[in-house]
Amino acid sequence: MMRKIGLLGAGRIGQVHAKTISAHAGSTLFAVSDVVAENAKTLAAQYGASAMSSDDILAHPEIDAVLIATSTDTHSDLIEAASAAGKAVLCEKPVDLSLERARACLANTQESGQPIMIGFNRRFDPNFRAMKTALENGDIGRAELVNITSFDPAPPPVSYIKVSGGLFRDMMIHDFDMATFMMGAAPVEISAVGSSIVDPEIGAAGDVDTAVATLRYDDGRIAVIKNSRRAVYGYDQRVEVLGSGGLLQAQNMLENTVVKSTADGVSSAKPTYFFLERYMQAYAAEWSAFIAALENGTGMPATLEDGVLALAMAEAATRSQKAGRPVRLDEV
Ligand SMILES: NC(=O)c1ccc[n+]([C@@H]2O[C@H](COP(=O)([O-])OP(=O)(O)OC[C@H]3O[C@@H](n4cnc5c(N)ncnc54)[C@H](O)[C@@H]3O)[C@@H](O)[C@H]2O)c1
Repeated sequence: MMRKIGLLGAGRIGQVHAKTISAHAGSTLFAVSDVVAENAKTLAAQYGASAMSSDDILAHPEIDAVLIATSTDTHSDLIEAASAAGKAVLCEKPVDLSLERARACLANTQESGQPIMIGFNRRFDPNFRAMKTALENGDIGRAELVNITSFDPAPPPVSYIKVSGGLFRDMMIHDFDMATFMMGAAPVEISAVGSSIVDPEIGAAGDVDTAVATLRYDDGRIAVIKNSRRAVYGYDQRVEVLGSGGLLQAQNMLENTVVKSTADGVSSAKPTYFFLERYMQAYAAEWSAFIAALENGTGMPATLEDGVLALAMAEAATRSQKAGRPVRLDEV
């Protein structure tokens, strides 16, 4: 079956999704909306789709599913409107900047029965997916210590930082979900420290650019997440899981696989530059997983509940960093 898709939001990530929707044999990009009408028009034209308003997309009887790639502060409203209109939904992370609003969104969409997936694209990265499969196969026994490194190559403009909700909600949210993905459980308590040492302007805006969070699980297991907004050698994305029977490590994807050895030393290419380069395969696999779940009537592989959990973890980490003490998940 060829599903007709409406894409809401024609920005940076909307353009990526337009490509993956069109490239998939089971979906076609039918319509694109954006509050900046010109953005929608340009993107729609590239794929032979129509530019429409978001309301018209949600009301259109032929559209089966929508992909929400608008600014974060619109996600909860659009998820609710789309599911009430009978559309299946894939929405970008985070669900909202407000945990309370995200929880209300979860409650308000229960009745519709429409499938809702949140875009935790890293779950679909071939490397992390292979780690998950190895864990599920019991290859390293039980996961006991997860270690996640996630450094951006360079900080975004301070204008972005100001509306981002802060590093924990905007950036570490992916890593909180990765910890949940690898551990198969939610932590009970989070301790976070953070500083603004990359760019003092980020500190002046009330945010941090360098942070570590430690997650404690009820059975004593531990996860550690390290974030920085600056790694001069590129996008550093590594995950390590120590289990009772061994270790799994996913290394960076490099620009090429050449290793140069000379009298001066041994060197290799840099990691792929940023998320568009590193996770292109993951975005395509994420979309395939969404379509497959609709096709097979199975549960979504990253749910709205997962989205709310990651946001609760971000809230706990933000509070912990500000208060200088561990914060329990049941406090937020
Ligand atoms: N999963 C990932 O790797 C990833 C990467 C980047 C961004 N994101 C998320 O995707 C979302 C969009 O980020 P972006 O970088 O593409 O931002 P962007 O600003 O480039 O694009 C957002 C677009 O949405 C439009 N828009 C805003 N409100 C709208 C509304 N009510 N209806 C229709 N269009 C509307 C804007 O005009 C803009 O064109 C954010 O929530 C962000 O957190 C996820």
